Amino acid sequence: MPHQDTPIVDVIASGVHDTKNVLFDALMRIGVAAHEVSGNRRDEALDLLKDAGAAVEKATNRLSTLLSAYRLARHENPVVLMPVLVGDLVEYAALRSPPSAQDQSRVHVVRSEVCPDTWLLDRELVADCLVNATLNALRFAVSRIRISAAVENGWLVIKVEDDGPGFSPELTSHPARMQSGVGLFVARRVAALHRQHGRHGRLILENGGAYGGAVFTLMLP
Ligand SMILES: Nc1ncnc2c1ncn2[C@@H]1O[C@H](COP(=O)(O)OP(=O)(O)OP(=O)(O)O)[C@@H](O)[C@H]1O
Ligand SMILES: [Mg+2]
Repeated sequence: MPHQDTPIVDVIASGVHDTKNVLFDALMRIGVAAHEVSGNRRDEALDLLKDAGAAVEKATNRLSTLLSAYRLARHENPVVLMPVLVGDLVEYAALRSPPSAQDQSRVHVVRSEVCPDTWLLDRELVADCLVNATLNALRFAVSRIRISAAVENGWLVIKVEDDGPGFSPELTSHPARMQSGVGLFVARRVAALHRQHGRHGRLILENGGAYGGAVFTLMLP
């Protein structure tokens, strides 16, 4: 688990290593599935292929986050602010969740009426943070997830909330010393690199909110 002070190249290396293991696991399952098919064990093969598909999906999302981490490491000023449709952005995060998870959990997208149509932000980096937060929420939610966007005191506030057990105390109580996976590590940096009008963005991890579970809040100036 990377610490916020961990050099970003180390975070990337460890993420690539984990992703390689996930893909190797998928490859093994596909091999066994082929064997099951040749033995006419179709149901067993299907289960293995489903698991392999889920592993490849996980690896794809992880690689996308690692590319964001690479952008943060490679460029002195990696954040490119452009007017982005806020509604599209939150819809995108909801739609990237796997169909299997969409069946089990109800993902609500809510856009406050006072939220303007567009906001200046880096679409690729922010979308990636939101997809990761949504996939995290889907992993922990019992049945409900809410992705919302609003404007509060001149900040764009995007939240991903779920009805799971919430973030551990280590994640919520020591944000500066936070140890996390690659996704939250990148989200914290992406938030901080969004600077406008002398203010910079922040990531807030807390519990409670609309559904009583984890609340991932990205505040962008
Ligand atoms: N909605 C949530 N509810 C409870 N715990 C969460 C939630 N989201 C994240 N976490 C905790 O924070 C950790 C770090 O999340 P992060 O997204 O950074 O990494 P990850 O999901 O473990 O792996 P990846 O790098 O693939 O995203 C998770 O492993 C989990 O323990
Ligand atoms: Mg994650």
